[in-house]
Amino acid sequence: MDIEAIKINIGTEIQDLASLEALEELRVKYLGRKGVLAELTGSIPGLPVEARAAFGQSVNALKNKITLLIEEKKKLLAAPAAGGSAERVDIGMPGIVHEPGRLHPLTQVTREICAIFTRMGFSIIEGPEIETEFNNFTGLNIPLEHPSREAFDTFYLKADHRAPTTDHLLLRSHTSPVQIRVMKEKKPPLAVVVPGRVYRPDAVDASHSFMFHQIEGFIVDKNIRFSDLKGILEFFAKQVFGQDILMRFRPHFFPFTEPSAEVDISCVICKAKGCSACGRKGWIEILGSGMIHPNVFKHVGYDPKKYSGFAFGMGVERIAMLKYGINDIRLFYENDLRFLKQF
Ligand code: DAH
Repeated sequence: MDIEAIKINIGTEIQDLASLEALEELRVKYLGRKGVLAELTGSIPGLPVEARAAFGQSVNALKNKITLLIEEKKKLLAAPAAGGSAERVDIGMPGIVHEPGRLHPLTQVTREICAIFTRMGFSIIEGPEIETEFNNFTGLNIPLEHPSREAFDTFYLKADHRAPTTDHLLLRSHTSPVQIRVMKEKKPPLAVVVPGRVYRPDAVDASHSFMFHQIEGFIVDKNIRFSDLKGILEFFAKQVFGQDILMRFRPHFFPFTEPSAEVDISCVICKAKGCSACGRKGWIEILGSGMIHPNVFKHVGYDPKKYSGFAFGMGVERIAMLKYGINDIRLFYENDLRFLKQF
């Protein structure tokens, strides 16, 4: 056994060890009762007398060196932060599964609807959820005595909202007030869609929520006609619900449009035959629309003789429920992953 060879190699031999068990094996191999060093010591009596002392000293020095190296390595393996055993990569361990999130179905449907309109040249503009009474009502030709002005239909931010002098603040009850904001700021031609949250003090049930989402749309220019409204809404409805749906315009009243119409599509479930989803009618209402009322133009300083326009408004939840056959609006707000993961 060559002492010099052991001295040279022992360093790398210990360095390569990866566990306390392997280190113990090495200790037994060198320092154990029948180990390498015991063997070297045992060979001393067989040496010439004059060589024994020097050989004994080098064996001792080697023993001290190995003991020291083992102690150091032991500390290293026991301390994880210092690069010890706990830091080693266990390739047999199960991986960490990263589940990427996804867009909420209402966000998906909002984007899909807005994209249909931006492809036709509309811009997307958003407005604030806290609105003035003027923009939410007066500017839109909704007179003071109109039922929806009453506090039970709108969340007012001030208690005495009927005091005539100030323009009170409220949570907007529709996205139509953004019409007023945009028209006050810009001149025609305008083609705008407005997605956003709206608020109404409704009791929550399968089809009502105190907060929901709408998309308003409007065009203002010279010579805009009802037939433009029909063409654009038909294109929109067929993009969302399929080319084979039927569509009808049903006369209706909205204060901010004249004439006004509600738009129905043939029931997506029974194909206009009549079923429980459409109340046996065969038709399902999807939005309100009409030609912008001259009074609205006057409120924003447009000349109603020069310009005309149309507007429409739809509920995003309603469109999403029809599109995906969802029967309870509350599912959108509960954040139950079993529901959300389906989209
Ligand atoms: N703002 C109406 C609502 O919330 C929806 C609506 C109807 C908007 C007709 C319009 C429209 O622009 O022309 O019920």
